[in-house]
Amino acid sequence: MFERILLAVDGSDHAMHAARKAADLACCMKSAELRIVVAYDPIPLYLGEPNMQIAITNRKGEAEEILNTVVKELGEIPCEIHTEIIEGDAASAIIEVANVRKSDVIVMGSRGLGGLAGLLLGSTSQKVVAHAPCPVLIVR
Ligand SMILES: Nc1ncnc2c1ncn2[C@@H]1O[C@H](COP(=O)(O)OP(=O)(O)O)[C@@H](O)[C@H]1O
Ligand SMILES: [Mg+2]
Repeated sequence: MFERILLAVDGSDHAMHAARKAADLACCMKSAELRIVVAYDPIPLYLGEPNMQIAITNRKGEAEEILNTVVKELGEIPCEIHTEIIEGDAASAIIEVANVRKSDVIVMGSRGLGGLAGLLLGSTSQKVVAHAPCPVLIVR
């Protein structure tokens, strides 16, 4: 039923919890692929060069670290793992990847790195639930 799983992570504990559920789901569903995506905020043009390139390199490095941590934590799972790093608004990036890769389900945390206490659903989760082209599993 869920051949292609899309997992969105931002380096938070919530996302790591979602990652473990995504791996369980992939095992149960005998999924073909687990695609893990991290989006980073767009770099403002006004920074100019070389600052823009430095900022992009830094953000990509942070995103790579997040992906490496998640892949390591998941260990061996019986499906292909793909990773993607995308510049842009997180929710738009997640939805775009789900569309392009024809994901069957999106797995993500209910909250992330945002510090607004009391929110039940973070802004990224809210936007993805509202606009996703497929089912969304929000992990608490
Ligand atoms: N930049 C991002 N890239 C990929 N996934 C993200 C990103 N930001 C958030 N997510 C996903 O969305 C979930 C909820 O985060 P979010 O809605 O941003 O909550 P908060 O407002 O607390 O930061 C995270 O657990 C993660 O799965
Ligand atoms: Mg957030």
